[in-house]
Amino acid sequence: MAALKYAGLDDTDSEDELPPGWEERTTKDGWVYYANHDDMKTQWEHPKTGKKRRCAGDLPYGWEQETDDKGQVFYVDHINKRTTYFDPRQAFTVEDMQQKPKRYDSNTTALDILQGRDLSDRVVVITGANSGIGFETARSFALHGAHVILACRNKTRAGEAVGAIQQEWHKAQVEAMILDLASLRSVKEFAEAFKAKNLALHILVCNAAVCWEPWKLTEDGLESTFQICHLGHFYLVQCLQDVLRGSAPARVVMVSSESHRFTDLAGSCGKVDLALLSPPKKDYWSMLAYNRAKLCNVLFSNELHRRLSPSGVCCNAVHPGNLMYSSIHRNWWLMTLLFNLARPFTKSML
Ligand SMILES: NC(=O)c1ccc[n+]([C@@H]2O[C@H](COP(=O)([O-])OP(=O)(O)OC[C@H]3O[C@@H](n4cnc5c(N)ncnc54)[C@H](OP(=O)(O)O)[C@@H]3O)[C@@H](O)[C@H]2O)c1
Repeated sequence: MAALKYAGLDDTDSEDELPPGWEERTTKDGWVYYANHDDMKTQWEHPKTGKKRRCAGDLPYGWEQETDDKGQVFYVDHINKRTTYFDPRQAFTVEDMQQKPKRYDSNTTALDILQGRDLSDRVVVITGANSGIGFETARSFALHGAHVILACRNKTRAGEAVGAIQQEWHKAQVEAMILDLASLRSVKEFAEAFKAKNLALHILVCNAAVCWEPWKLTEDGLESTFQICHLGHFYLVQCLQDVLRGSAPARVVMVSSESHRFTDLAGSCGKVDLALLSPPKKDYWSMLAYNRAKLCNVLFSNELHRRLSPSGVCCNAVHPGNLMYSSIHRNWWLMTLLFNLARPFTKSML
């Protein structure tokens, strides 16, 4: 039951057993409170542990919440045709996180961030999820119960990533789909195949990237770093926009980089020059192409948020950390050296 474990739902510790005379109840919105029949009083804190708890997730299929004449909440199990005052979700309560606010720092992992979340009704698509940050993100979502789609360009590497997550938890809902961001045709085909599944889309993580690649043109005639890091994702979001809106509340996360600060899009006359985005070979510098694509991701995220947030789709750009050891450095030996030297001092994936 890995997902339950990671979602903080496996707490069956006997310290939670109530002393005689106490009863556990829930409010309409799922908060647990404790009633003492001897003293005729109620309280939010568990009489033994002092912890506040709330129910996790929705009611099981077939159950409904009702209120009786005295205003007390009860539950109807339509499948087995019975009623009870016991909230079936009490089998899966989680500690009230607000009681002890969490502090996140450079040692915090994706699993730490999601701890206590039940994501079993969420659908997540992550591009470039077969390695590095994308893989760790996919793994963490999947171990919290989400249905995760790894959108990757290489079938074998994607299959291995799916296998690794399922080995950790055999019930993980993970699958791979082919998406090559260097091809607008592939992006379109991915979006069509995804839509054919008739799934919602609650979280789209635009994570895939390449860096320090030699100049080359994609099949669409665009410089490849720009297309993979930015334009392919831009097109993907356009293709999936209706699904995102229909799945609201939903979110798009554009994985950017702090290096977006070290460039701008202004040409020699000081105005935005779109020709800089897909330069010819003679004007190409791989690092600059990467930085510009990442700047586009930030600008795109801001504008997307402005346009989609009224429909319940929020968009954020994120910088995941500097020199995190992944395979991003593989195209240039100097970067491989730098990443290796920095490795003991920088954030790790796990
Ligand atoms: N690591 C860092 O220090 C750092 C710092 C700042 C920002 N970031 C950002 O974090 C994100 C993840 O990077 P990472 O460090 O985890 O690097 P990574 O391990 O190299 O992951 C990049 C992923 O993108 C995929 N990808 C490359 N080209 C693709 C294409 N044409 N179509 C679809 N997928 C493609 C790769 O697939 P293949 O395995 O098939 O190549 C890989 O799965 C990137 O957006 C990067 O810019 C990383």
